[in-house]
Amino acid sequence: MTAAGTAAVPEPRIAPEELRSHQWYGTDGLRTFSHRARTRQLGYLPEEHLGKPVIAILNTWSDINPCHVHLRDRAQAVKRGVWQAGGFPLEFPVSTLSETFQKPTPMLYRNLLAMETEELLRSYPVDGAVLLGGCDKSTPALLMGAASVDLPTVFVPAGPMLPGHWRNETLGSGTDMWKYWDDKRAGLIGDCEMAELESGLARSPGHCMTMGTASTLTAAAEALGVTLPGASSIPAVDSGHDRMAAGSGLRIVELVWQRMRLSRILTADAYEDAVATVLALGGSTNAVIHLTAMAGRSGVELTLDDFDRIARTVPVLANLRPGGKYLMEDFHFAGGLPGFLSRLTDVLHLDRPTVAHRTLREQLDGARVHNAEVIRERTDPLAEEGGVAVLRGNLCPDGAVIKHIAAEPHLLRHTGPAVVFDDYKELQRTINDPALALTADHVLVLRNAGPQGGPGMPEYGMLPIPDYLLKQGVRDMVRISDARMSGTSYGACVLHIAPESFVGGPLALVRTGDLITLDVEARRLHLDVDDAELERRRAAWTPPPARYGRGYGALYQDQITQADTGCDFAFLARQGEVPEPYAG
Ligand code: FES
Ligand code: MG
Repeated sequence: MTAAGTAAVPEPRIAPEELRSHQWYGTDGLRTFSHRARTRQLGYLPEEHLGKPVIAILNTWSDINPCHVHLRDRAQAVKRGVWQAGGFPLEFPVSTLSETFQKPTPMLYRNLLAMETEELLRSYPVDGAVLLGGCDKSTPALLMGAASVDLPTVFVPAGPMLPGHWRNETLGSGTDMWKYWDDKRAGLIGDCEMAELESGLARSPGHCMTMGTASTLTAAAEALGVTLPGASSIPAVDSGHDRMAAGSGLRIVELVWQRMRLSRILTADAYEDAVATVLALGGSTNAVIHLTAMAGRSGVELTLDDFDRIARTVPVLANLRPGGKYLMEDFHFAGGLPGFLSRLTDVLHLDRPTVAHRTLREQLDGARVHNAEVIRERTDPLAEEGGVAVLRGNLCPDGAVIKHIAAEPHLLRHTGPAVVFDDYKELQRTINDPALALTADHVLVLRNAGPQGGPGMPEYGMLPIPDYLLKQGVRDMVRISDARMSGTSYGACVLHIAPESFVGGPLALVRTGDLITLDVEARRLHLDVDDAELERRRAAWTPPPARYGRGYGALYQDQITQADTGCDFAFLARQGEVPEPYAG
C-alpha cells in the first residue's frame, strides 16, 4: 500500500444481527419461521446460511444475448467465491438487453432493467449484490438501479469477445460491419465475401471488442471503482474471467461486513474520473447519456458542460477502433485499465475508495503500460483533446454532441445545405434516389429519432451516405439528428440534439435547402435562418401524435427526460424517500 496512513486503520465491521437479511431470517416470529422453512425447502441447512450475508447475483444471461451467453457459467464462479468467503449466494435472472436483437432499441428498456434491479434488491432479503452484464445499456441499467438501493455492490463486466478475423484481416465487431457493408454497397465486395464475413466478425461470447458502448461503459464502471482492478478488459472466454468472477464473489462478502455502501464509491469525484476515462479512451458518445443518468441516481449532477470541460483536460491515449487501430484484447495485454489510468494520475482523484482498495492510489500502485502503441504516452496522444465535443447553438439550445476524433477533419468546420428526412423510414426509402442530387457538401438531417420520437433514441445517427456518393469515394458527410450513434460507428455525426424534434425542438423547424453551419472548434451548431422566420415556422408546427396508447411504452413517453439530462424516467431520477419493505 502506498497511501500513507490508510493501511493500519481497520474498517468497522457489522455484527450478523445488523445484516439486512436478519429481519427475514434471524428474529423470532411467524414470518421468519416461514422464511427459514422455505429455505429448507430450497435444500439448504440452517448452518449454510443463517447469520451469513445474502448476496444477490443479478444475471442478464439469455439464450438470445450473444454478449452475455457465458454469464450462466460465470455466475457459478461468483457463487464459488461467495461460499468460500462465508456468504450465501442467490442468483436472480433479470432482463437481458441485447443490443443486436432487441427492437426498436434496447435503450427503450434500459430504465426497465434499472427498475427491475432496484426493486428486486429492495424487496428480497439481500445484503449485497453482484451484477453481471456488459452489452451496452446493461451496465448503466444495473448500476442505476443498484445506486438507487445503495447496498454494497460489485459489478462483473461481461468481457469483450475475441478479435474477429477474415482473410488475414483482424475485424472489429460493429466497426467493420459498417465498413464492409459500405464496401458492398460501393460494389467492392460481393455475396461470397459477405458470407465469410458473417462467420468472422464475432467469433466468441462476449461484448463488442472495439471501444464501442459496451467497452466504454464497462471501463467507466472500473474507473468508478465498482469492479475488481483490471476486470473490464479481460476477454469473456479467458480463464482469467472466471477468476475475476470468483474474486468478485469473495470481495462482496467482505464489503457487506464493512457496510461499504455503493454511495461511498459512486461519489462526484468518481464520476469526474469516469468521464475523464471515457474521454481519454475516445469512447462512445452513448456514455454521455448513461453517465449523466447514473450520476443522477447517485445524487450527483453531471452536465454536458462537465463533459466539455473535462474533454479539454485529457488527451485521447487509447489506440482502439473505431477511432484507432487495435481491439480490446490488445488493450488488455497492454496493461488494461489500470495501465491506462496510470497515464492519467494527474487528473484523477486518487484518494477515493474502490470496491477493492481503500484508495484508487493503492489500486494503481504497480500498474504499468506494456505497449505504448496501444496505450499511448501523454507526449504522443491520438488526439490532444478528449473524444467528445459538446455543441450549442440555435439548433440545439440544450446541447448536442459530436465524436470529432472519428470524423474526417475537413468536415469539422463546414457550412452546407440541409436535406431533411422526417423519419428513418423516409430516409431509408429515399436516400439513394438520384433525384435528391446530393453532393458531399450537403448536410443530412434526420428528425423524430430522439427519446420520444424514435422512440427510445435509436442508433440511427450515422445516417447512410447515398450509394452514388460512396461510388464516387465519399466516405463522410455532416449528419445531424436527435438520435444516438453506435459506439462502434464513426463520421461527422452530430447527435443527441436537445430538445428533440418530436417535442418541438428547433430541429423540427429545419427545411431542405436551409444552410447549417458546424464549427467544432467554436463548439457551435447553427441554423442560418433568421429568428423571425423561425418563429413563423414554430407557430405553424403541430406536435405529432403520441407513439403509444398504452403499456410500458406509454409510461416511457410520459416519463422520459431529454438526452442532456440522461434519458432517465422523471419519477426515478428525482430524489425522495423509499421505505424499507420489511414489515415482519
Ligand atoms: Fe452487445 Fe455490441 S452487441 S456489446
Ligand atoms: Mg453498440
